[in-house]
Amino acid sequence: MSPRWLDSPHARVRVYADARELALKAARRFARLADQYVVGCGRFTVALSGGSTPKEMLALLAGEPFRDTVPWSSIYFFWGDERCVPPDHPESNFRMADETLLGRVPAPRENIFRIPAEDPDPDRAAARYSETIRDFFALGPGAFPRLDLVLLGMGADGHTASLFPGTAALGVSDRIAAANYVEKLGAYRITLAAPTINHARNVTFLVAGEDKAATLKAVIEGPRQPEVYPSQSIRPDEGALLWLLDEAAARMLGKEEHR
Ligand code: 6PG
Repeated sequence: MSPRWLDSPHARVRVYADARELALKAARRFARLADQYVVGCGRFTVALSGGSTPKEMLALLAGEPFRDTVPWSSIYFFWGDERCVPPDHPESNFRMADETLLGRVPAPRENIFRIPAEDPDPDRAAARYSETIRDFFALGPGAFPRLDLVLLGMGADGHTASLFPGTAALGVSDRIAAANYVEKLGAYRITLAAPTINHARNVTFLVAGEDKAATLKAVIEGPRQPEVYPSQSIRPDEGALLWLLDEAAARMLGKEEHR
């Protein structure tokens, strides 16, 4: 079934019938981009998102036909954010991706760059991750990496990665990644800074579920207030911004406000 298209001035929006179709179309797009960049540049660099929405897409990529057709040995995996827990912790974004995908496909472990969020010093963890990325992309001081794809989710409060409303990391413009204390969670997170995400060639949000509908309308169609809705801070400099949604999350888009 072809998607509904709800393009906005700053983004392409594709709406699929349900979370299952969304996951399948997102997996197909991942595979297509991987082929495109591996053929064109010899590698594909991707930052995965955490949370629950990407799970179904990752699980599909671990199965046929993707398992045998995606050029896994030429893909380099990073993360958009991580909880400050060990990599085997139930809340770890790395563990989620490893269990649903990376441990099930022939992706060389040396091509997987998880965030060292178990470091008891969050600032040091962020600095280590930034250094890893700087080394991988051979960046000079102050430069940002150009990831081929950054996958993002969006929370019902409008956060993305671990850029939460009203938090310090929203203002970070001089670092690749930052530690971010999130009051409402009572915890630190490590997150890519918005400029790093905005430097990517492709940024794709995967958002599903009724609970995201009102926030999605505010983020995509409302006035720009990234402090309130951090997902609005994602506007790629030159890259393509794409929202892949299910109907439940998109149900309020493209309609006049109900007075
Ligand atoms: C995380 C994610 C976060 C996530 C949103 C949406 O570490 O939790 O990176 O930004 O994408 O919270 O989460 P769901 O997909 O579970 O709704």
